[in-house]
Order: sequence, then C-alpha cells, then structure tokens
Amino acid sequence: MSKTPPSKVLDRVLVLEMVRVTEAAAIGASKLIGRGDEKAADAAAVEAMRAALNELAMDGTVVIGEGERDEAPMLYIGEKVGSAQGTGPKIDIALDPLEGTTITAKAGPNALAVLAVAEEGNLLNAPDVYMDKLAVGPGYPEGIIDLAKSPTDNVKAVAAAKGVEPGEIIVCVLDRPRHADLIAELRGLGCGVVLIGDGDVAGVIAVTNPDTTIDLYMGSGGAPEGVLAAAALRCVGGQFNGRLLFRNDDERGRARKWGIENLDKIYTRDELAKGDCIFAATGVTDGSLLKGVKRMKGGVITTNSVVMRASSGTVRWVSGEHRNRG
Ligand code: FBP
Repeated sequence: MSKTPPSKVLDRVLVLEMVRVTEAAAIGASKLIGRGDEKAADAAAVEAMRAALNELAMDGTVVIGEGERDEAPMLYIGEKVGSAQGTGPKIDIALDPLEGTTITAKAGPNALAVLAVAEEGNLLNAPDVYMDKLAVGPGYPEGIIDLAKSPTDNVKAVAAAKGVEPGEIIVCVLDRPRHADLIAELRGLGCGVVLIGDGDVAGVIAVTNPDTTIDLYMGSGGAPEGVLAAAALRCVGGQFNGRLLFRNDDERGRARKWGIENLDKIYTRDELAKGDCIFAATGVTDGSLLKGVKRMKGGVITTNSVVMRASSGTVRWVSGEHRNRG
C-alpha cells in the first residue's frame, strides 16, 4: 500500500477521542437491542453521538449523516458539530450512529456505531441512494477488481491471483431479492456465498480479516455506508469500487445538488475517501468485526471498538468498561 502523508489538520484531532464518540452512540443504542423498535434505537444512538461530537474541540461538519436538513433533526448533512467552531481544526465527518437499525431491533449480528473523519473536502458527499459495491482484501495487485466487469470476471481474476479455483472463492452479499441473479451467478461458479441480513459496512470490512475467510464483497447497499467502508479500507488496505445507483430523477437531483456530475462514475476507494482519514467503530451487537455492548450486573457496561488511521496504518482495538452511564 503506498504511504499516505499525515494530515496536520487531523493531527489536531485526538484519534482516541473518536472512539469515545462511537462508544457513546453504541451504549445509547444498546438499551434498545432486541426491543423491536428500530426508530427508537436509531434516535438513541444519534442523540448520544451528537452530544459526544459536540464535546470535541473541533470545527466539524457532517458530510454524511442522518439525511438532509428537512428530514433529519440531528446530525443532518451540513450540521456543524464540535465546540471550537471557527477556531478548531476544520474536519469533515461521515457518520452512521447506528449501522444496522433492524439488526439492533432484532438483536441480530453486526450492528455498529461508525464514523470517519478527514480534512475538509476529502470524503465524497454521497447522497442517500444505493451504491453498487465491490471489495477485495489487501495483498492483490492494484486494479484486480473492476466494477465495469461481470461478477464472474472479478471472481476469476481474484481466484487466479490467489492461486485457487473460482469455486473456492467466498463472497459476502446482502441477502436481498435484488441480488437473486448475482447469487445465482456466484453459486453457478461454485463460490461460497455468505449472505448477511444487514450491515454492509461490516460486510465490506470482512474482506480484510482473514478469519472471516471472505475474499470478496459484492452487491448494492447504501452509498453513505460505501464511503464509510472505503475510509476503513484506506486504513487497513484492500480495494473498493463503488457506483451510485439511481432509481428516479429525485435521486439524480440529490446527487447533482452535492456536486456529483458524472452519475455513472465508478469510484475507487481513494476517490471516496481521500488522503489521511480516521475510522472508528464500536460494536452494538456481536459481529465479525467487534463484540457488541454488554450491560452487566452492577451497572457495568462493556464496549469493544476499533480506531484506525490511514497515514500511520495503525489499528487500535479498544475495550472499555463504563460505570455510571445509565
Ligand atoms: P440501516 O442501519 O440504515 O438500517 O442500514 C442497514 C443496511 O443493511 C446497510 O448496511 C446497507 O447499506 C443498507 O441497509 C441496505 O439497504 P436495503 O436494506 O434497502 O437493502
């Protein structure tokens, strides 16, 4: 992986402070795990994440958040966060206080509280539309995956580079009716298909973790989640391609409003998240990346988080014990 120079602006943001923000959101959502109320779980995470962000000495702007101002009361796109407006480091923030609202409501696996920060202008202002995604883990030649090619061609290229048969490749896909043809094509090649119910940020990051045995991530999911996953891959390696998918003119209009002109563009990882960036996540429910929040006897709450930075490539796993947090 070529070295990313450190950002002096990000040097002024304390990397570990980012974990406090995702921890707060995860703890907030954890009260609602398995309670069947997606909205309440999301609201609790949003409120807690916003309060934690506003304690940080920065001049932050939400570039990927809970939606546009008229549809999201908190952490909307364009909202200013941080206690040092006008004086602190100017940073852009992509966030998803609860990635996996349905998972949380049903106490399923892989719900996360997630954020990525970068210097102003370095994260794609992705509208809340779908994105076609393709990801592979580190250690492959640059350009080995290409969203312009068929799933079969991508599987064959990765299999050849790995020195295995296409049928030995494992692909993670969101379990959705819209992926029926993709799943059939992959199974036709003999591939193992790991179907996940929700949570494609964790699904994409799974390609970087040999323990999961997942080689590739394929299929469509939220575009904001694509930018968050690309930021994580900038820190730990791996390749990512993403193309925005539009269902109607309203969605095309949203993209143009955020300055996106070429609507068919295939973005690489480094076009979605440029330069130095920090990615942090805390598990809400147990998953392939992180264990979830546990509310123990005696009021102790345990959390598990990861925080990484692109310029140093440092990955820190942080386990927390929290008392007096309600
Ligand atoms: P939410 O937390 O907003 O529910 O997102 C969960 C998720 O599974 C994402 O990980 C994924 O990108 C998106 O939903 C897929 O959208 P859809 O459920 O419409 O297929």
